[in-house]
Amino acid sequence: MEQMEHHGRSPGRLWLVGAGPGDPDLLTLKAARLIAQADVLVHDGLVGAGIFDLARPDARRISVEKKRDRHSMPQQDINALLVRLVQDGLTVVRLKGGDPFVFGRGGEELEAARAAGIPCYVVPGVSAALGCAAEAGLPLTHRALSSAVSFVAGTCQGLKEQDWRGLAGPGRTLVVYMGVTTAGMIADKLIADGVSPDMPVAILERGTLAGARAIRTLLAELGDVVVREDVKSPAILVVGRVAALADAEDVMARDVVALLEGSGASGAW
Ligand SMILES: C[S@@+](CC[C@H](N)C(=O)[O-])C[C@H]1O[C@@H](n2cnc3c(N)ncnc32)[C@H](O)[C@@H]1O
Repeated sequence: MEQMEHHGRSPGRLWLVGAGPGDPDLLTLKAARLIAQADVLVHDGLVGAGIFDLARPDARRISVEKKRDRHSMPQQDINALLVRLVQDGLTVVRLKGGDPFVFGRGGEELEAARAAGIPCYVVPGVSAALGCAAEAGLPLTHRALSSAVSFVAGTCQGLKEQDWRGLAGPGRTLVVYMGVTTAGMIADKLIADGVSPDMPVAILERGTLAGARAIRTLLAELGDVVVREDVKSPAILVVGRVAALADAEDVMARDVVALLEGSGASGAW
């Protein structure tokens, strides 16, 4: 009977949609259009509240919010839920904070959809690194200061320990997602790898959301500052000379102008 009712309807489909770092104004036009059309929104905890105002009043909302030590729904169950909803003929928007393919498990959900033979499309979103850096006036690259950027997970299930060698240093920017609880350990590893203890760091907390905070410090002080300032997730850590440019509360003694003057911007791009 359920099958028959859906005969003649357009087939269901799955959209993996990036919701950006929180501010609804950072949604893409495509994301906003799809949210407004969706029969069902399956969303994470990091999706900014105002974004749901765009949905149809009758759209179903299903939260599959994840906490660091407590998953409200295992990933396999989320995959199965998405497949089932689409097989029921629904237009499903799987809303993810930031970009679906940057530490968002979008790859796993896309694989599950492919394995089940259901149509799945991906809409990129503004990842936390880009949204937070823009808000703080922190250029992730800079001709004089950095020509490479790495996005790294500070805590990650599935892989063994992260190899931090070579990820930070002069001329590079390291952005650590999910690194609040491991900040001190990460700083120790980077310093052991030869990164200067004086390397600037910016902590960008709740970027583009109410109560956003930006804090500047030095690598050697990172662990202490995170504890002292009671930094909470969601936050990213930006390690590199560009971090000294962040428009932030200054927890370090650093003359940004001197830093820039000493670097001599002259690159070709
Ligand atoms: C599971 S990852 C998801 C990342 C997301 N897919 C993206 O592209 O931004 C969650 C982490 O992203 C970072 N994050 C997400 N939103 C943030 C925000 N508004 N401000 C600061 N960091 C954020 C934090 O490091 C958080 O622990």
